[in-house]
Amino acid sequence: MIVAIDGTVSSGKSTIARELAKYIGFLHINTGAIYRALTVKFLNNNIKPDELEKIKNAIMSTIIDMKHVDNATKIFIDGNDVTQIINTPVISQNVSHYSKIPEVRGFARFLQHQFAGANNCVIEGRDIGTVVFPNADVKIFMTADVDVRAKRRLTDYEKQGKTFTLEEVKAEILARDKEDEERPISPLKPAKDAFIYYNNGSDIKKVILDLVQIIENKTGYKI
Ligand code: DC
Repeated sequence: MIVAIDGTVSSGKSTIARELAKYIGFLHINTGAIYRALTVKFLNNNIKPDELEKIKNAIMSTIIDMKHVDNATKIFIDGNDVTQIINTPVISQNVSHYSKIPEVRGFARFLQHQFAGANNCVIEGRDIGTVVFPNADVKIFMTADVDVRAKRRLTDYEKQGKTFTLEEVKAEILARDKEDEERPISPLKPAKDAFIYYNNGSDIKKVILDLVQIIENKTGYKI
């Protein structure tokens, strides 16, 4: 079974997808991590978003792997563990410039199918229910008010020891929403058959139970 969770930046979808997957015993796949890992490689190799030939060559020589180690998912690019670096501000600020490139999306889509395999999985991203797995059994579109999202992102940055103002983080989020929603390929939008879920609260357990209810009602599957 495939549970697709798409949604906006800092809507809490990664935490929820991870905890939901644990709760129902499914594999968790964070597809944003794939775009972020590729961004690490492009930046390390000084490849700009408009250098398409270099991007294509870099993709051809790239190996991305996701491994579940000690109850956490780690992501590797060309054998290097980039799990920590992918969530740093420099990657967050650059990733949407690369993730709108068709060749990058094609490669990421191939990997997403490979990682999902024949497993029961909770897979999260921007275009899972619309493009990557249009026949997903359950589709959820998660979002929250921009102030709530900015506070969440600020807390994440503070944990990394980075200081920004709330206004700066809010501006980053709005800019990334715009990039995600306005790109011509796979723009961020809810699938027609998605459940829209507003994640404005802080009670993760409640969200998980709400989603379990949605999954059970939609599929008849008993969790
Ligand atoms: O969810 P996130 O912030 O980790 O995503 C990082 C970037 O990758 C974000 O700018 C949008 C892009 N992305 C995408 O285009 N499609 C996906 N399925 C997942 C992420």
